Amino acid sequence: MKENIRKEFKNHFGCEGTLYASAGRINLIGEHTDYNGGFVFPGAIDKVIMAEIRPNDSDKVRVYSIDIDDYVEFGLNEEDAPKQQWARYIFGICREIIKRGGVVKGFDAVFAGNVPLGAGLSSSAALESCFAFALNDLFNNNAIDKFELARIGQSTEHNYCGVNCGIMDQFASVFGKKGNLMRLDCRSMEFEYFPFNPQGYKLVLVDSVVKHELVDSPYNKRRQSCERVAKHLGVETLRDATKEALEAAKSEISEEDYSRAKFVIEEKERVLDVCDALNRGDYETVGQLMYATHTGLSKDYEVSCVELDFLNDIAKECGVTGSRIMGGGFGGCTINLVADDKYDNFISEAVKRFNEKYGHEPKIYDVVISDGAHKITE
Ligand code: GLA
Repeated sequence: MKENIRKEFKNHFGCEGTLYASAGRINLIGEHTDYNGGFVFPGAIDKVIMAEIRPNDSDKVRVYSIDIDDYVEFGLNEEDAPKQQWARYIFGICREIIKRGGVVKGFDAVFAGNVPLGAGLSSSAALESCFAFALNDLFNNNAIDKFELARIGQSTEHNYCGVNCGIMDQFASVFGKKGNLMRLDCRSMEFEYFPFNPQGYKLVLVDSVVKHELVDSPYNKRRQSCERVAKHLGVETLRDATKEALEAAKSEISEEDYSRAKFVIEEKERVLDVCDALNRGDYETVGQLMYATHTGLSKDYEVSCVELDFLNDIAKECGVTGSRIMGGGFGGCTINLVADDKYDNFISEAVKRFNEKYGHEPKIYDVVISDGAHKITE
């Protein structure tokens, strides 16, 4: 990928720039908790977006996307927003840096990636974090702190891409550290690195390669449900809501809002329970909690789909320790904690049975927990 980017940069711009990369992410547990002030437990992975960038002494940004084979030029004022969705991520990053008083001048860039799109691995956060990190390095002497870089990515989603996401993906992409998961408290923004190397187990993703584009932005709707219930309970976010308070209010809110809030309140506890279990080396408990998350995401939060429920069932039948849908939902991957001796059988069963039922094979990615945003120096 690096050589290809270098070659294309030279072709397009006739010189050399600096290389940067940022990663996609997994999340062990803590789904849809970030925008509710709860806990998440992500890590960056070895799938990245990589970009070569060079200031060009103009007020224009010129970018070539190798994977989409598309070239875009835009200015840095609000009215210059490009139409192409992929370019809006980069435009958004520039605008959000400028809005915060940072500096962005014209630059040339070529980028490519190997984060699968639509798999729930946050290719968009990888793209945002790669450019946010790079523009901070090239134009701002790295004066913008890393949390702000993550927020710049998040605001790009809100203001230029129409997704009211939480902070998890951008946080993971910016802060990721090889071999470590991170437990982030999304209320205080305190976090802790957790070395993750479960002896005798593997983490593997099974990608359904299914993406259900649902009308009415279901992600934003989930968030609105949570905010409605929090308001009703008189708390700032569901992080501060209790099960008892929710039960007491059950008859005053819609059934749907009740189910959504119930999931979130249970999920925030599960993250803490997983941390305790990991500290004891108790992977069986970690696995059971992952299954409980899947059930909640499927039945209460309703962000699963038949294909992912099917993969979850196969995991159960193959004796996989823990399995659940990962990320925002409506397609994408399951994340699976599998004992070494069950791995081969699980993968072959999942591939075979999924293919029989849905007519295409799922993709399998072994998880390698890696570094987040960085400059490539060698
Ligand atoms: C998407 C969002 C995140 C988070 C997850 C669900 O990935 O971008 O902020 O809400 O969904 O946990």
